[in-house]
Amino acid sequence: MSDNSKGAALITGASTGIGAVYADRLAKRGHDLILVARDEARLNALADRLRAETGVKVEVIKADLTQRADLAGLEQRLAGDASITTLVNNAGVAGAGDFVGSDPDAFEKMIQLNVTAVTRLAAAAARNFVPRDRGTIINLASVVALMPELNNPVYGATKAFVIYLTQGLRAQFAGSAVRLQAVLPGATRTEIWERSGSDINAIDPNMVMEVDDLVDAALAGLDQGELVTIPSLPDAADWHAALAAKAKLYPNLSRSRPAARLKPA
Ligand SMILES: NC(=O)c1ccc[n+]([C@@H]2O[C@H](COP(=O)([O-])OP(=O)(O)OC[C@H]3O[C@@H](n4cnc5c(N)ncnc54)[C@H](OP(=O)(O)O)[C@@H]3O)[C@@H](O)[C@H]2O)c1
Repeated sequence: MSDNSKGAALITGASTGIGAVYADRLAKRGHDLILVARDEARLNALADRLRAETGVKVEVIKADLTQRADLAGLEQRLAGDASITTLVNNAGVAGAGDFVGSDPDAFEKMIQLNVTAVTRLAAAAARNFVPRDRGTIINLASVVALMPELNNPVYGATKAFVIYLTQGLRAQFAGSAVRLQAVLPGATRTEIWERSGSDINAIDPNMVMEVDDLVDAALAGLDQGELVTIPSLPDAADWHAALAAKAKLYPNLSRSRPAARLKPA
């Protein structure tokens, strides 16, 4: 167990973009770090900088989260290492292009990373955190989860999964001090755009957030106890109103008889 009372934060996709900024901010908050991604050289460069600047312990784990063996090793570490107090489930890929023209293998890889790895890592962290009644799980979703008509439909669906998973876990761990948060970035300037064959410069600059602002706002939302944080949304009441509109459906979502409007012709 680390002598660091804040414990260690394990961050997936920490080699660049949003994950690298989480690494910076959590180190500055005094967390030791476990940085995970495939590009070991980039992880080591970030680790060296953060050790020098903050004095925290930084470990690097090279892992491809779409590879079963790499994922299993990480799950074991997350579930069994009591010094880990935070999981930032951040690694993700996006996709461009239309559904029919896209490679189904690319969809499967996206689902492996954005859904399967996120779920298995959250489950491993929960096995560690819930019995100890402490710990934080941050899951990176996206605003496209709320707008499935935008962007690649499979990407939006994977991110909707992340929101539902986070909300479902909150309900399941209702009596627990474990903190949960889904973060829903809008367009944020990182490599994900290039990597998925999109051009962020084609988007109205008023809609594009810088990555430092995004992570700082997401952490402010965490500090305020938000379960779902939409960094650019001015009034959180609008999100709660959307939830309330959905909850209005609940009494009629499962009944013994079909609705009268659906009488067979
Ligand atoms: N940027 C946006 O506009 C935006 C908007 C909404 C949501 N998000 C979400 O925010 C999260 C971070 O996105 P980002 O914009 O920071 O993306 P990014 O700049 O492309 O970084 C993605 C990170 O994930 C890692 N990664 C990718 N595939 C991996 C794999 N198979 N195994 C392990 N690590 C892998 C990458 O590192 P290696 O290549 O070294 O493995 C990198 O560190 C994602 O979940 C994304 O969906 C982003």
